[in-house]
Amino acid sequence: MGVLFNKRESEPQVSLPIHMGIIMDGNGRWAKRKGLPRTFGHKSGAKNFRSIVKYCSQIGIKHLTVYAFSTENWTRPNEEVIALMNLFEQYLIEALSDFQNENIKVKFLGEMEKFSSKIQNLIKEVEKSSQNLTGMVLNIAMNYGGKREIVNAVKILAEKVIKNDIQVSEITESSFSDCLYTAGQPDVDLVIRTGGECRTSNFLIWQAAYAEYIFTDILWPDFKFKDLDNILTLYAKRKRRFGGV
Ligand code: IPE
Ligand code: IPE
Ligand code: MG
Repeated sequence: MGVLFNKRESEPQVSLPIHMGIIMDGNGRWAKRKGLPRTFGHKSGAKNFRSIVKYCSQIGIKHLTVYAFSTENWTRPNEEVIALMNLFEQYLIEALSDFQNENIKVKFLGEMEKFSSKIQNLIKEVEKSSQNLTGMVLNIAMNYGGKREIVNAVKILAEKVIKNDIQVSEITESSFSDCLYTAGQPDVDLVIRTGGECRTSNFLIWQAAYAEYIFTDILWPDFKFKDLDNILTLYAKRKRRFGGV
């Protein structure tokens, strides 16, 4: 358990982001450094995902979006993609009971049609069984791409215009946001990226337009509660001006 946000204390001691995103990167390098196959890194990363999600819920994060698989990750070697799909299957089953106990509402962001019917059914089951839960909203971005999401929103709006449901003049930042996978959720306040790369890799490019970014060299399987505490402390010190003074 982290020091700043020990769950035995009633309130966290710094102001928290309402919506936090995590780019969980560095699994492959973590394994390689240990002389293990990359898939070991993914296993360890998935385990860490489970404990960090629970920690975020316990310290009072309201919306957490994690990047699990991008639209670009299909280009990886077939055996790695298969290993990741097997992990998703296993974790979706475990997540069912695990996150339910924590009152966590789970939502998936991305194009789910590309996954096997088994995974798609599990996704539906997880979403359905948690839809009335009132705790943290956990968005799992899978086969997610920010550009894809924006194009998708454009298509939804274009259809509405063609059907005369809305006028072009009614297309606003707000009505556009309502066509994204994250409809109804607040914009992202903080994006954390582990693994040392300083790029968005197509993650929440609309929702994080004004987010604070904090990059850390720590590889995802090594990212622990205290590291999150440190980043949240850094975040709390940032002056967010949103273009003002
Ligand atoms: C992130 O870790 C997990 C996924 C993209 C699925 P990586 O697999 O990208 O690990 P590195 O960046 O190669 O170390
Ligand atoms: C971003 O990591 C995607 C996820 C963490 C799921 P990548 O490892 O795919 O990103 P790049 O290739 O370094 O940009
Ligand atoms: Mg990577």
